[in-house]
Amino acid sequence: MCGIFGYVGNRTAQPLLLDGLRTLEYRGYDSAGIFVPGYGVVKSVGPIVNLAEKITEPIDGTSGIAHTRWATHGAPTEENAHPHRDMSGSVWVVHNGIIENFREIKEGLTVQGVTCDTQTDTEVLAKLIGTLYAGDLYAAVREALRRVRGTYGLAVIAEDDPHQIVVARMGSPIVLGLGSDGNFISSDSSALLAHTKDVVYLDDGEMAVVSSDGYEVHTVAGQKRQKTPEKVEWNVEAIQKDGYDHFMLKEIHEAPQVIKNTIRGRLLIEKGRAKLGGVEGVLDTLNTLHRLQIVGCGSAYYAGQVGRYMLEEYAGLPVEVELASEYRYKRNIPDKHSAVLAISQSGETADTRASLLKAKEQGLLTLGIVNVVGATIARETDAGVYNHAGPEVAVASTKAFISQLTVLVLLTLLLARERGMSQEEGVEIAQALYALPDVLSSVLEQADMIKQIAEKYAAYKDAIFIGRKFHTPIAYEGALKLKEVAYIHAEAYAGGELKHGPIAMLEENFPVIALCPHDDVYEKMVSNIEEVRARKAPLLSFTTSGDSALASLSTDVIEIPKVHPIVQPIVTTVPLHLFAYYVGAARGLDVDRPRNLAKSVTVE
Ligand code: G6P
Repeated sequence: MCGIFGYVGNRTAQPLLLDGLRTLEYRGYDSAGIFVPGYGVVKSVGPIVNLAEKITEPIDGTSGIAHTRWATHGAPTEENAHPHRDMSGSVWVVHNGIIENFREIKEGLTVQGVTCDTQTDTEVLAKLIGTLYAGDLYAAVREALRRVRGTYGLAVIAEDDPHQIVVARMGSPIVLGLGSDGNFISSDSSALLAHTKDVVYLDDGEMAVVSSDGYEVHTVAGQKRQKTPEKVEWNVEAIQKDGYDHFMLKEIHEAPQVIKNTIRGRLLIEKGRAKLGGVEGVLDTLNTLHRLQIVGCGSAYYAGQVGRYMLEEYAGLPVEVELASEYRYKRNIPDKHSAVLAISQSGETADTRASLLKAKEQGLLTLGIVNVVGATIARETDAGVYNHAGPEVAVASTKAFISQLTVLVLLTLLLARERGMSQEEGVEIAQALYALPDVLSSVLEQADMIKQIAEKYAAYKDAIFIGRKFHTPIAYEGALKLKEVAYIHAEAYAGGELKHGPIAMLEENFPVIALCPHDDVYEKMVSNIEEVRARKAPLLSFTTSGDSALASLSTDVIEIPKVHPIVQPIVTTVPLHLFAYYVGAARGLDVDRPRNLAKSVTVE
């Protein structure tokens, strides 16, 4: 949440700063601003395009800091937009996170005669740094941070010293990008790809002084740190729209490639086994697990729910799935034979990370399924699996979600074979995974038809999604997507729950979206569908190809190929995501950047 970008070098900073912000816009788009020493500050409310329009005079400086904001403290006004300044206007700060004791600090500053003009916690921090600044910015930031409680990814620059940027990290990511003609700082590595693939990830409690020809890292306590630069694997093309109207549509269409990338080198088809290098070191512990707890937020949580059905059904491993925002605050009764698996596309979600830290404190093995290489959760877990889904730009997760499901199939296969699944059964699952990219290509060929159906449903105000077993969490995911990108009130229920309340809502303007592939709960779902039909609610069914019985019961049908039950939810998800996308697009919405949302939720 909130994106930070900065540059110090020989090039004109302003276009670099704006481009960096455009890439980071998914982290928040309430307001934006840049500061270039010698040229002052420009701020605007709304997306980066508003900021770009406001820059009418040339800004030639070769260093600067920039920010795109997701409002936490203070309304999304221009006044509250970052960068914020100290009293003299010499020190400028951009910040991601929350300074918890900002009121206390503000009172202390008021006594010193320092007043604040905005409602933000960040301004208080800028003012504090300003009172401590006497020519050595690094020392001033360090001293200020010793007095601060909370989370921050921070970049600070001084008007009278444009040749360096001081950055610090506690809870919110900061990555340094090492370029050939200057150095960059960013909230994530995707915004650096246009300039460099050589990056340095700061860890919590670390600060860095970045100049045009180098960087130095210290802890806030003052200890020097040696950091080895790492290489980012992603390409800059991956963060461009490539002719699609929206990133969300592009990312849904990437499904076949995403599956190929997720399973590459991880399937031993003839042996019916999976090979996950990232968890090999802890395989003995995994084999003796009595229980696995999965934590995540949003779509990642629903992926975990599907994972529960997979792992319980095929590996016989008891699984609990918890919302990370609950897990971290509730009493967790430790059991030395249990482990905690965090699922997170960004690898930065604050609640997910806090859950892991809690599990660590209890001495539990921690695992991760993370997409962004080098992200905090990936680095803090004992072992894990990268998705290799490539960068996901649209705020609503689509390709990362199906990649998470795919990793969960791989993990299930790995553990199931260790726990007694026959080779024959293993081969079936491995083959089903291997065939998945082609299956998904055929599903995507139906995009125009799905669009036409979606346009009909765009007129409704409500919807209920139903499914059973593997498809219960997928129903929740479908409802979440419709809320996120189409602003339609949508709920989800396990099919069997329909008659315990929600059926009272049904009438001819309240559609039901039923996920009903031909599996072992098919008959039960058909009963639910009959109940819906009797209430005259419009019914859209997702069912396996050639199911004429269901077609005759439904108002509309989206057909999906029948595959092995463990991968069926992946095949259902792709048209479900397309459906939500087209409903949002038909309603004329900015589906890539839904109101009030941000992709990487680094505040709690
Ligand atoms: C936000 C996004 C969701 C995502 C969730 C968890 O709410 O809008 O699409 O599923 O965060 O994010 P993570 O990066 O932890 O998977």
